[in-house]
Amino acid sequence: MEIYSNIAELRSALAKVRQEGRTIAFAPTMGNLHAGHISLMRQAREHADCVVASIFVNRLQFGPNEDFDKYPRTFDADCTQLRDAGVEFLFAPTEIDLYPQPQTYVVEPPEIQFLLEGECRPGHFRGVATVVMKLFQIVQPDVALFGKKDYQQLMVLRNMVSQFMLPIKIVGGETVRADDGLALSSRNGYLSPEERAEAPRLQQTLKNIRQAVLSGNHDYDALCRMASENLDSHGWKTDYISIRRQQDLGPASASDTDLVVVAASKLGTPRLLDNIEI
Ligand code: PAJ
Repeated sequence: MEIYSNIAELRSALAKVRQEGRTIAFAPTMGNLHAGHISLMRQAREHADCVVASIFVNRLQFGPNEDFDKYPRTFDADCTQLRDAGVEFLFAPTEIDLYPQPQTYVVEPPEIQFLLEGECRPGHFRGVATVVMKLFQIVQPDVALFGKKDYQQLMVLRNMVSQFMLPIKIVGGETVRADDGLALSSRNGYLSPEERAEAPRLQQTLKNIRQAVLSGNHDYDALCRMASENLDSHGWKTDYISIRRQQDLGPASASDTDLVVVAASKLGTPRLLDNIEI
């Protein structure tokens, strides 16, 4: 695996790949890699001839009281995993490489950036869209992969690519889970052993909601309110549980099909995210 922090050097290496007629798949990350990230790398290999990954903890998408400084950085272990997954190029810029000047031009996503995660994390999706746009300009991939675990992020980026007419195919990867159902996340490392034992309740809650909806319960508000109260009675602090339309994450009504239940809830220090499609 070739590792680059310098943008010009990465560009000239990837220009050679293109000259050889090979296609490029790209999976950006913030590092501290787990099996969820690695499954994106493996899927990337099915979609193109050459896989490029990136590791960059993007300050722009963290709020002032969030964990930017504490975000786990495990570069050497990450490189081993990427190499084993067949990644050919790793782009790992420093902040100066990617933000040589303060980023005053930004990608401002539409209304969707203020819903759900966006309501809890103001500016988050602007930061995500801006860094991914920059990464896309640098790597110029044919295909880019993002996890469905971050459902709203995937939607923001799909719409960005579509409206800016970027010639990039976006592929959504299924969420990879631990054996007990907890969605893998770099932030799971912040859980104490007791919290880790409690954490699968989030996915169980979403499964129960799905079951209720499939059995004909269309009182979505009541379902979600009860689920949220139940989580909170087990020590969680729920930001939202909501049944939405898959298409645009707007609130679902009984006549809508193709739904997704999205949730974010704090358990101890970390805020856990999960979702389930119906
Ligand atoms: P990060 O949280 O490191 O995630 C990188 C990619 O891995 C994202 O597309 C995310 O959805 C996916 N992912 C995370 N956990 C997963 C799981 N359990 N199963 C499947 N995929 C999973 O998301 C980001 O970084 C950043 O916002 C980024 C897009 C890199 C922009 O900075």
